[in-house]
Amino acid sequence: MSNSEQKSTKTIQSLRGMKDIVNEESTLFTYFIENASKIAKNYGFSYLETPLLEETALFKRSVGESSDIVNKEMYQFIDKGENDVCLRPEGTAGVVRHFVEKKLDRAGGNYKWYYYGAMFRYERPQKGRLREFHQFGCEVFGLQSVYEDANIIMLIREILEYFGIGFTLKLNSLGCVECMPQYKNNLVNHLNSFKSELCEDCNRRVDTNPIRVLDCKNEKCQTLLKDAPKITNSLCSSCDSDFEKLKEILDFNKINYEIDSNLVRGLDYYNKTAFEFVSNEIGAQSAIAGGGRYDRLVEYLGGKSTAGIGFAIGIERLLELVKMNKEQKEFLYIGVLDEISLNKAFEIAIKKRKTTKTYIEYTPRGFAKHFGIAEKLGCNIVALIGEKELENGIIYTKNLNTKEENNIILEDF
Ligand code: HAM
Repeated sequence: MSNSEQKSTKTIQSLRGMKDIVNEESTLFTYFIENASKIAKNYGFSYLETPLLEETALFKRSVGESSDIVNKEMYQFIDKGENDVCLRPEGTAGVVRHFVEKKLDRAGGNYKWYYYGAMFRYERPQKGRLREFHQFGCEVFGLQSVYEDANIIMLIREILEYFGIGFTLKLNSLGCVECMPQYKNNLVNHLNSFKSELCEDCNRRVDTNPIRVLDCKNEKCQTLLKDAPKITNSLCSSCDSDFEKLKEILDFNKINYEIDSNLVRGLDYYNKTAFEFVSNEIGAQSAIAGGGRYDRLVEYLGGKSTAGIGFAIGIERLLELVKMNKEQKEFLYIGVLDEISLNKAFEIAIKKRKTTKTYIEYTPRGFAKHFGIAEKLGCNIVALIGEKELENGIIYTKNLNTKEENNIILEDF
């Protein structure tokens, strides 16, 4: 340690876009991992943990040199052994690296892994966008059938439903080596007619990765793109019939979806099915989960051609929704044990209603009677006040779900 470091008394804070997970959030975090893992195991997945640090080339060859993630957002450095390394920005590449390294592509069969952990992207932090965030993901190898695409989507739905989260599923097909190159040519021809009017990023993308222009968030670009050719109209017969079949399976299983032909995803390895689960309750960073098929990725990383598909859920964004649901679901019952406490109870109810759904019962009753009414009304928290409580400046509470009872100082309540 240098002398100046030893002497400094300045407190050290966590880095911008990075945070500690503690208290209610850490309880929810472990609860989520436990239950999402259980669901993934029921779908035949087993746990795999890959290192946080990998060779930079892994992400360049998988996520793609033209992607924002590789271009602008990597935590990349040269380590003490002169190796070019970086903190993983996502989980798929490491899992595919494992698959190829262990020569499972040559062994044949199919493999299903789930993982969770920290990912790092040097993005501009904002609500729902962190530099260190956590994903829960699943990856499947060796299954070409479009039923597996539906299976993956149903697995995500089951996880989200387990946590009571509403969502919109956006779906697209990105075609394959047969149909995508022709589509890209058509798109570039179309874009070239107004290239100079596109934003700076899109101008670059027209030459490096034209389909990324489609999901540009810039309003002017979106207006210019309204007549752009759609990939879903250019699919080859195999991609088209797979996409039709996928929609049929989802319809049959009552999974609602929206076709979004501009959904291209921010990572370059996808083909055929691409999807995102979005919520309109968490602001601009609305994607809770994303994924799709990546049938060429094993080859890009030096393995033998093997079908692949997977997804990742953004845990922080999901927990934000779980917390919102929890807050919304609180229904408070306020009751009095005697007439003289009614004024105070009334005052408390008025304050509580500002943040919490609240019912007040005006008739004085005993504890058991109040619990009975509260239960019938669907309240989950009961707060009761009588002469004794008033004298001590407290209020009695009972959580009807957990049965936990407390005497809380009125001011804190
Ligand atoms: P992704 O769409 O880049 O896909 O990330 C998946 C999810 O991670 C997003 O939907 C979002 O919820 C969350 N996320 C991404 N960036 C941030 C951030 N800066 N702050 C907070 N949350 C974030 C992938 O990473 C692919 N590996 C998914 C996949 C797996 N595809 C196939 N297999």
